[in-house]
Order: sequence, then structure tokens, then C-alpha cells
Amino acid sequence: MTRTTLRICVTALAGIASCSAAFGAETVTRLTIQADRPGAPISPTMYGVFFEDINYGADGGLLAEQVKNRSFEFPTALMGWSEAKEGPAAGSLQVLDQAPAFPVNPHYLRLKADGPGGYGVINEGFHGMGLRAGEEYLFSASVRGRGGQATLRVELVSPDQRVLAKTMLRDFGSDWKREAASLRPAATEPKARLRLILENPGTIDLDMISLFPHKTWRQRPNGLRPDLVQMLADLKPGFVRFPGGCIVEGRELATRYQWKTTIGKPEDRRLIVNRWNTEFKHRPAPDYFQSFGLGFFEYFLLCEDIAAQPLPILNCGMACQFNTGELAPLEQLDAYIQDALDLIQFANGSETSTWGSRRAEMGHPRPFNLRLLGVGNEQWGPQYIQRYERFAKVLKAKYPEVQLIASAGPRPADDLFRFLWARLRELQADIVDEHCYDRPEWFFDNAARYDNYPRSGPKVFMGEYAAQSVKTVSPDNRNDWRCALAEAAYMIGLERNADVVVMSSYAPLFGHEDGWQWRPNLIWFDNLNVYGTPSYYVQQLFSLHRGDVVLPVTIDGRPPASSKTPGLYATASLHRKTGEVLLKVVNSASEPVTAILSIKDAGKIAPQATAIVLAGAKPGDENSLAEPRRIAPVTSPVTTAGSDFGHTFPPSSLTVLRLRAGG
Ligand code: AHR
Repeated sequence: MTRTTLRICVTALAGIASCSAAFGAETVTRLTIQADRPGAPISPTMYGVFFEDINYGADGGLLAEQVKNRSFEFPTALMGWSEAKEGPAAGSLQVLDQAPAFPVNPHYLRLKADGPGGYGVINEGFHGMGLRAGEEYLFSASVRGRGGQATLRVELVSPDQRVLAKTMLRDFGSDWKREAASLRPAATEPKARLRLILENPGTIDLDMISLFPHKTWRQRPNGLRPDLVQMLADLKPGFVRFPGGCIVEGRELATRYQWKTTIGKPEDRRLIVNRWNTEFKHRPAPDYFQSFGLGFFEYFLLCEDIAAQPLPILNCGMACQFNTGELAPLEQLDAYIQDALDLIQFANGSETSTWGSRRAEMGHPRPFNLRLLGVGNEQWGPQYIQRYERFAKVLKAKYPEVQLIASAGPRPADDLFRFLWARLRELQADIVDEHCYDRPEWFFDNAARYDNYPRSGPKVFMGEYAAQSVKTVSPDNRNDWRCALAEAAYMIGLERNADVVVMSSYAPLFGHEDGWQWRPNLIWFDNLNVYGTPSYYVQQLFSLHRGDVVLPVTIDGRPPASSKTPGLYATASLHRKTGEVLLKVVNSASEPVTAILSIKDAGKIAPQATAIVLAGAKPGDENSLAEPRRIAPVTSPVTTAGSDFGHTFPPSSLTVLRLRAGG
């Protein structure tokens, strides 16, 4: 049966009820959208993103800085750097901290060349440095002369030592001074290095050695990689969760994320170890540290740029419970609560307030309009409830307009989860953050999870989720089509229950092809390129194609969850202003499903509609750097739409139908 014959049948039979009989044995699925019964509003924060500095997501990722260990603060002081000698040259490299340029990050490099020839250092970058031919790169460093006629040659070189660009710096005074030069590489190179060579005998001190592309996101100094930000902007996320994730908690409290150390001048942001440095023995990352070049100010700017609400998650006096589980004693909790109060003031306070003035000094007098704040990441147990309660009491009294996110622990249905939900209900928490990493089957099976949630009490934030093709933290997990389709089926359940679920985010967000610790991730990149996984396109379709209120849907007369039709999941929404009806359908079966679509009492639906289909040929299909859009949305016109019409949903697909109002 073709779509056209089905439509003729539907039109001719008007009442549709006997349509399938007219086609003999073939069963026709009936999908009914009740456009005359708009339900819950869909929150603008429904689909957001979760950022964490994992998999080199910040240093070596979103932050466009190319120099690793630029301030010589890594515990192995010369990590990332190696000696460079030309001919018979001799000299020495020493890391010192006397009379530093930057007291917060006091270490610097003393570079001494003894004789003729060139002597210096090479920085290997984060998995190399990605350079593009002809584009401008800004080298800068704080330099102090220590004697001799030091002339510094600054070069960008390929892995086989070909010089791609060079410039010279000289006349260094005896006080620290910021030197800068611009370089244009002659060739594109994904794994370049920065080489600094003293050409004459002499000694200089060097610190905060930096190389940024001129082309950062919005051309900002200390800026972000534009291609990676564009991927986020293209999702039109409702919010950006930041900075995680377990990184909020630290393996112990001393290495927790503290927002105040991440603002101000980059050289004044104290470097600490990244908790993913040692987390997985099978994926060690000994050179993984947090420079905080991407700190809270840059984060707020990013949110503003892409029109997403900021959602900071703050430490609540608990280190990661998968690690030390160290607790700040309750009598010391005030300092943590004060950090939260101060962050709200940093974001929203007037230019004359203590922290609002810091924001203004950094170049943003206008407030950032913070309305959401997470208390702790993935915490659990009575210790969490004790701490959450104290945070909530103070924050709610002072800033009732800020909604607080509370943790439901690391899993979506265990004793920890049940305990937390029961207590958070009693405490009348605003929003509860659920996490789930599980096999794709879990996501298909739980697509109706929220259909039976209580309709009153705290709202749900599905704050971290991703289907795992093997199992959680397995290095063999893949971002395949089966996982993405399972997530799509699950997201249909989120949207259909928009009265309960008000926020959601896939996690983690970024993974560097050469530097990941965790997979799957939503977006993969290397030093020059980026691609979205099939899960990325699922997120994008949900985010870009949603109305502002949910519409009831039935499949064969029953709510979608109880449909006898195997593998069909559906949700619909209405754009109240335009009258457009947006239908999302996942067909998880390996056969096409033809359905009669009835849009009840919506007035007229125009015959011209749009279908956007995301489909993979095989469950194991993936995107990659070589084939970034193997699985990507395909948009096509539909000319036979109406209030009753037939449509075929391809096998193993997510379809969005945009149905316009009109005759
Ligand atoms: O997304 C990776 C990690 O998974 C997060 O850091 C943590 O919150 C969760 O356990």
C-alpha cells in the first residue's frame, strides 16, 4: 500500500474506523493527536547540555589555548616541555619560584644558553597543537632578562621539525614584561609544536607561555574554540550545566572545584589536578590538570552568547563518594554556603556589590541572570540531605527566585535514589537531578518511566544520561545508532511528561579522540575537527523541534506507553502562536510502520508539511571524523498532510513531522 492510496482511503472513509479492514489483513496503526487538548507547557530548559572538564573538554578542548603546562605548575614541572638543541648547543632548563611573575602560580622556567648554536625548549601541546595554514596565532609570554644578549626565536614546527612559522623577540629587561608576537603557519598541521630557542648565550625567565588562535569564538582573548562552541550553539540548548559532574566534588575536598579560583586574570587562577588524571587505570591521563583558563566568567559569557540559562553545580561539602567521600563537618559548611551566595552575587549582583563589581571589572557590568543552581553533584545518603537542607534554608531565604537542583544519587532506581527522593519530597525541593547510564534496552524499556510519576512535588531534571553500548565506564562503549535511538525513545517519554520533567542533559558532552577517559560522549573532536554523534542529532532534533505545550497522543486508542504496536514511541506538541503541530515518532522496529495520523479538532492542517528523519542503516553504525554525517537528519517536504493522512515511518528511525495550520 502506498502512502497516497492510504490517504485516499482515509479521506474517502472519513470515519477512518474501517480503514484497515478495507486493506484486508494488513494492520494499520492509528496515531491520534488531540490538538484541541493542549496539556502541560514544555519548559524552555527542557533540553540543555552538560559540560564537564573530562576527556580534555576544557584544557586541550573548548579553551583554545595550545600550550600545555604554560605556567610550569604541574607537579612534574617540565611535563609537556622538552629540551631543544641545535648543533653543539648547550644550556640548562630550571623551574624556579623566586621573585615570581604571578604569586598564585609562582613557578617559571629559567632558560640558559651557554655557547654558540641554539638552545631552548619545545612544548608538545595537548596531543599536539592544531594549526591552520595562513591563520593568525598569537604567541605571548612573560619574560625577564637575566644576563647576556638573549635573542629568542619563537617557532611553530611540525612533528618532523619543519618550521611552519617563526618570529624573533629580543631586548629583555630585568623586570617581568609581557611579550607578544603573531605567527602565521605556512601549512595546516594537526600535531604541531611550539619551539623557543635562545640564539646567543644568555639567560631569560619565562612564564605563562601561551599560544592562541586569533580566531576564537567571538574573537575573544583567552577565548574558546569556535567550531566547538558552534556545535553547542547549533543545539540551541535551554541551559548549560557546569562544571560537571564529579569534577565539582574532587577526589578529596582539597581538589574540589572552587569557582572563586577560576575568575580574574588567567595567570591568577590557581592550577589544580584534574580528577580524571588518575581515575581510570585503563585510561591514565598524567598530564591532565585544570588551568581554569575556562572559568566561571567565560562560562557565563558562553551561556549568554548561545542564549542558554546558566546552571552551575556547586560543591556542598562532600568529595566524590566513589573516591574518598570526604565530608566537610557541618560546623564548617558555612564557607561552602557562602561560596554559593557569592556566586549568585557574582552573576546577578549590582556593579557596586562585592562580587558584582568583580564581574564588572572583568568586562560585564550587566548581570548574567542566574536562575538555577545545583547543590552538590551526584551525592547520596543522609549526609547529603543534612547538607542540602542547610544550603536550601539560607539560599531560599536570600534568593527565592533561584531554583535549586538537588541530587538523586548516581542511579535511577536503587535504595539511595528512593531514600533521596522521599526526603527531598518532604523538604519540598524544587528540582531533583536523576542520573542514568545504562544499556539501550533500559532506555527503551523506561520510555514510560515518568507516565506514572506523582504530578505534584519536586520536578525532575534528567541531569546525566546516555545509553551505554557495553556497560558504564567500559572503554569499549560506542556512540552507535542503537544507543541514539534508545535515547530518542526515552526522550519522547520526557517530553510527553513535561509537567514532571523540566530539564534534561546527555552526559558527558565532549571527548578528545586522543585524550578521552570516558565514552560515549555527545561530541567528538581532535585538534582541528569536530563531529556530532548520532546522539547529538537526536538531542538537536528534540531541542529544535518542540512546541510550547504538550498534546495528548494515542496509538491505536491507547497511551503510547501501553501501545501494542511494538517499537513505536510518540509525542506531540503545539506551537500556540503559529498553530503548528510537531510530532516526534521513534520506530525502533526493523520494518517500516505505516500509520494513519489524525489531528483532532485542530482546524485545518495544511497539506504541505515537513518531515525530518534521522535513521541508521545498522544498529552499530556510527559517525566519525572521516564520516561525520553518516547518520544525520534529512529534511524532506510532505505534500499529503492534513487532519487525517497516512505516513510511513522508516525502520529504526526518529521522525519529526512539522504540521502547519491552514487549509
Ligand atoms: O559523566 C561522567 C560522570 O558520570 C560524571 O562526572 C558523574 O557525575 C557521573 O558519575
